[in-house]
Amino acid sequence: MNIILLGPPGAGKGTQAQFLVADHSMVQLSTGDMLRSAVKEGTPVGLKAKAIMDAGELVSDEIVSALIGDALDRLDADTGVIFDGYPRTAPQAASLEELLASRHRSLNHVIELNVDVDALIERITGRFTCAGCGEGYHNIYKMPESEGVCDKCGHTEFKRRPDDNAETVRKRMEEYRGKTAPILPIYEERGIVTRVDGMADMETVRAEIAKILGS
Ligand code: AP5
Repeated sequence: MNIILLGPPGAGKGTQAQFLVADHSMVQLSTGDMLRSAVKEGTPVGLKAKAIMDAGELVSDEIVSALIGDALDRLDADTGVIFDGYPRTAPQAASLEELLASRHRSLNHVIELNVDVDALIERITGRFTCAGCGEGYHNIYKMPESEGVCDKCGHTEFKRRPDDNAETVRKRMEEYRGKTAPILPIYEERGIVTRVDGMADMETVRAEIAKILGS
């Protein structure tokens, strides 16, 4: 099974992708995570991407499609994939079709998470992760059980993304509305789009997605 999780910044794509990995043994391919790793490692892709990401703009279609192609090549043919944050433009949607067809894969579902703008800003500006294992937390919705200590690995340092500030979030939303939302009709014509209320709590969204996948 191959699915796309679509939605504006902070809609919960990464959160739900992690649940799908746990519940369905699927693999999450997040272009945002891949680009952040490239920035951290200082690779040529990372050097090109850093300023663009910090400004909340989109990295070039060629770069992200190449990352996805390479990642698909490392997977077994029968491993289910969750595309998280890809495709984000019409050219990326076209590239994904080619990448899948040439690997004898097809798309089963496109799930769009809908969330109010005010909630998105609150979610993004409250988000932080463990610097050790990457476990995600939130100032309001998910604090570590013991203050200052990661529930998962016990690490005591946490970090916030440089693009999680109000100004950059506005730009990221503009990019979503202008370039990503317009690709939905491509998939609607094929009857594979389902919209989920991303305002519901995480477990309710998880259950809704499980229903869509028939599990
Ligand atoms: P990317 O990393 O993809 O960021 P994004 O799309 O802006 O999405 P986020 O990761 O911010 O949010 P999310 O929907 O995953 O929400 P999350 O689950 O974390 O991209 C970053 C940048 O990389 C882009 O701006 C661009 O520059 C570049 N890039 C990436 N892909 C690209 C591409 N294909 N083409 C070109 N450029 C690309 O949840 C957010 C918070 O809310 C968390 O704290 C979470 O705990 C909380 N939360 C989640 N669900 C709920 C819920 N139901 N109720 C309450 N809280 C919730």
